[in-house]
Amino acid sequence: MRIGVLTGGGDCPGLNAVIRAVVRKAKMEYGWEVVGIKNGWAGYLHMEVMPLDLKSVSGILPKGGTILGTSRTNPFKTEGAQEKIIANAGTLGIDATVAIGGEDTIGVAYGLSKMGLPMVGCPKTIDNDLGGTDYTFGFDTAVNIATEAIDRLHTTAESHHRVMVVEVMGRHTGWIAVYAGIAGGADVILVPEKPFEIEKVCDLIRKRHARGKSFSIVVVAEGAEFKASGDDEISIVVQDAPPDEFGHVRLGGIGSVVGREIEKRTGYETRVSVLGYVQRGGTPTAFDRVLATRFGAKAVELVEAGEFGRMVALSGNKIVSVSMEEALKMKEVDNDLYRLAELFFG
Ligand code: F6P
Repeated sequence: MRIGVLTGGGDCPGLNAVIRAVVRKAKMEYGWEVVGIKNGWAGYLHMEVMPLDLKSVSGILPKGGTILGTSRTNPFKTEGAQEKIIANAGTLGIDATVAIGGEDTIGVAYGLSKMGLPMVGCPKTIDNDLGGTDYTFGFDTAVNIATEAIDRLHTTAESHHRVMVVEVMGRHTGWIAVYAGIAGGADVILVPEKPFEIEKVCDLIRKRHARGKSFSIVVVAEGAEFKASGDDEISIVVQDAPPDEFGHVRLGGIGSVVGREIEKRTGYETRVSVLGYVQRGGTPTAFDRVLATRFGAKAVELVEAGEFGRMVALSGNKIVSVSMEEALKMKEVDNDLYRLAELFFG
């Protein structure tokens, strides 16, 4: 048996931990060969591969990024690309593939699996927005990085008596914002799931300052949605860049818009910090290392059991599997969690 493993989409801490676990489990328990496919689906299309043995994955557990490289290549965008991948898998002698990725990568894996290519998915993303799993690996690390940043921004905001707006990633969900916001003691948290009116945000800050506080921390998710007052119309802030191959607009910039409005409306001096890609880089937390390792080993078990078209997942504290279709239903921040965060607003 020969299995392939690839990492697709935006990188995140823990990818190498999964690769290491896949190789270890496949070799040590089943005696299988493992082939690393480079740069996501692009590597499958161009047959860019590397053999993975125990030596090549030794020492990679704490390393951020992915030793295989990644890309946002979408084979469903190019005529004939899916068929080429299926043919290339045959040429490379790959019997099954473990695709480590988020919504886009799992979406492609699902499509190829319906075309007959044996695929198993493994949920990666700092955004934690995949369905069917309580957590994706990478999320915990991003939350810890953002929380540390919020702690640091607190001290400078307090010294200068400023409002500090912190923009975090998360695509169209507010998981990073809510978790890091609660952990970092944010005074307002803005997420895509709860479109906001800027005047209400300003009221919360005014209320806090009226209580004698001279600074505030506002955490805003990059995909948070503005609502015009008394209106249902919502809008998001996007960068001036073409969408990627999966049709995603490039988010980012809402922090500046929110900061400008707060300063204009309240008169409080305001600064903005955009955390950006630091949330995706560097070494994974212990939680993510363990989760990624459990996911990698389970993915190989699914291959052994012939359970294709499925993704490994965390349910409570158990590693299970769910259909890829289930995984592709976007998981939003739940209401109860946001209500808990709101208890500390203003
Ligand atoms: O999905 C992970 C993520 O970091 C999002 O939070 C963010 O919107 C996006 O990727 C950025 O994508 P790119 O790496 O293509 O700039």
